Formats: sequence, C-alpha cells, structure tokens
Amino acid sequence: MPENSNEFQGRPIAVLGAASGIGRATALGFAAHGAKVAALDVNTSQLEGFAEELKTAGAENAFCAAADVRDSSMLNAVLNQTAAELGGLDHLVFTSGILRVGALADMAEDEFDDVFAVNMRGFWIAARAALPHLQSGPERRKSITALSSAAAIRPKASSGAYAASKIALSHLVRVLAVELASSGITVNAIAPATVDTPMTQPFMGETSANHGYRLSGTSPMGRIAQPEDIAKACLFLSGDASSYITGITMPVDGGSTAAMPRT
Ligand SMILES: NC(=O)c1ccc[n+]([C@@H]2O[C@H](COP(=O)([O-])OP(=O)(O)OC[C@H]3O[C@@H](n4cnc5c(N)ncnc54)[C@H](O)[C@@H]3O)[C@@H](O)[C@H]2O)c1
Repeated sequence: MPENSNEFQGRPIAVLGAASGIGRATALGFAAHGAKVAALDVNTSQLEGFAEELKTAGAENAFCAAADVRDSSMLNAVLNQTAAELGGLDHLVFTSGILRVGALADMAEDEFDDVFAVNMRGFWIAARAALPHLQSGPERRKSITALSSAAAIRPKASSGAYAASKIALSHLVRVLAVELASSGITVNAIAPATVDTPMTQPFMGETSANHGYRLSGTSPMGRIAQPEDIAKACLFLSGDASSYITGITMPVDGGSTAAMPRT
C-alpha cells in the first residue's frame, strides 16, 4: 500500500493483542494512515501511554482498554465500547496469542488448554463479538484478520499444542470466510515464521530452557521478520487491494515454508 494512501483515514479499527510485538506494530501501522484505533490487550500495563503514541503517529482517534480473549462477556463489552468511541468498527485484527513449549508427552493439561483458549477459542469469540458492529454501519470494506503461524503449515517438535491451535484457527478462518462471504466481510489469516518479538526473544541464542523447541531461524531471504513486516500484511488484508481475497492463510515468512532449504 502506498505510504500516502488514505483508505484507512478515519476508519474504526480494533487490534486485539496490541500491547506487544505484531499487534503493537499493526496498531501503529493503522495509526500512520489516520485510522481510529482501539488498542486492546489483557496486559494493560504495557498499554499505558500507547493511546498518545498512536495519536502522535497519526491516528485520528485512539484509546486503549483491557480485553482478555478468554472472556466473551469482556470481549462483548470492549467491542461495544470500541464501536461507541470510534463510531463503528470496520476492521478487527486478532493478534493475541501465547506460545507454550515442551514435548507433548510432558506438557501439563492446563498449559495445553490455555494455548487453545487464547489462540483458537479466543479468535472465535472475538470475531463473534465483533460481527454485529462489522455488519452494521456504512457498506464499505470490512475485514477480520487473524495471526496464525507457519506452525499451522509445518509444525515443529516441542510446540505441538501451539501448532494444533494455529491450524485450528486457520480452519475457523476458512469457515467464517465462507459464512460471511455474501456480507462482503473478508476473513483471512497470516502465517509468519520467526518474528523478532517478546514471544520469541526468550528462544534467541543459546538457552537451557527451550524444552527442545527451536526457532525457524533465518528465512531464505537472510533475516527473520520484524513486526512491521507482518503489520504491513495486516494492512494489506484489511485494504481495498485484497477485497476479493477471503478464507486464506497467507504465509509472510520470507520463503521459510515454500521449500526445504538446500542441505
Ligand atoms: N513472533 C513470532 O515469531 C510469531 C510467529 C508466528 C505467529 N505469531 C503469532 O503472532 C501473534 C502475535 O505474536 P507476537 O510475536 O507479537 O507476540 P507477543 O507476545 O509480543 O504479543 C502477543 C500479545 O497477545 C497478548 N495476549 C496474550 N494472551 C491474551 C489474552 N488472553 N487476551 C488478550 N491478549 C492476550 C499479549 O498480552 C501480547 O500483548 C500471536 O498470535 C503469535 O502466535 C508470532
């Protein structure tokens, strides 16, 4: 999208998981295009001062609020608040996610359940809470974009629950896309490989606490992704250029899942 595009100017957008990493970069990306941005996250301490930062970056309006994607009544309330404060809702971006590592034989049941509660079920109830707002208001470009993972395409040892939650999320995206197709609301997912965020930083370099989990490492393009690489894809899947794309999980991984590297 051209830097001077004004297609998001004044458009109301909610980013779930906006306190950190990819969600934070996505909220800032929409702000730079003049959008009205709701930055939502369970981690409210990391949202402190972010509304002002979003306005400085160019947001026409911005606010931050607590949202736990495991809690449907909280999501209903915060998306009602978003629509009231921003004058509707055109785009939902779901970046909330957690990674728990360890061999499937050793993983605790509550850890397994947490991964699914946030990464998969969280997406379902967030999309459901957003729908009445997306379906009302002016007829114009509306979308839902979720963060899946390269793990949905090529799972890795020692992150089995995470990979399973992400392919389940991608299937929810496919089905929801078809269920909403006639309404014009597109639903898509993005599948990054390694992105330099607080989620992956504990696994960078040599560490004894990896429980056998290994990052994908450098992509065939010679670097790992920065959060802004993924934010740009979120803006693309919310914008006019992608208005006939729905139901996909789009790799944004520098070619990491395209083919096995030469040995
Ligand atoms: N970093 C990577 O390498 C990578 C690769 C592929 C996919 N992803 C996915 O991208 C998304 C963003 O990841 P990131 O790397 O920016 O991680 P991050 O840890 O920096 O950000 C994740 C955000 O989700 C929020 N979150 C966690 N539980 C939540 C809950 N119950 N309710 C609301 N928000 C909650 C966290 O507070 C945090 O702000 C995740 O879904 C992740 O699985 C990341």
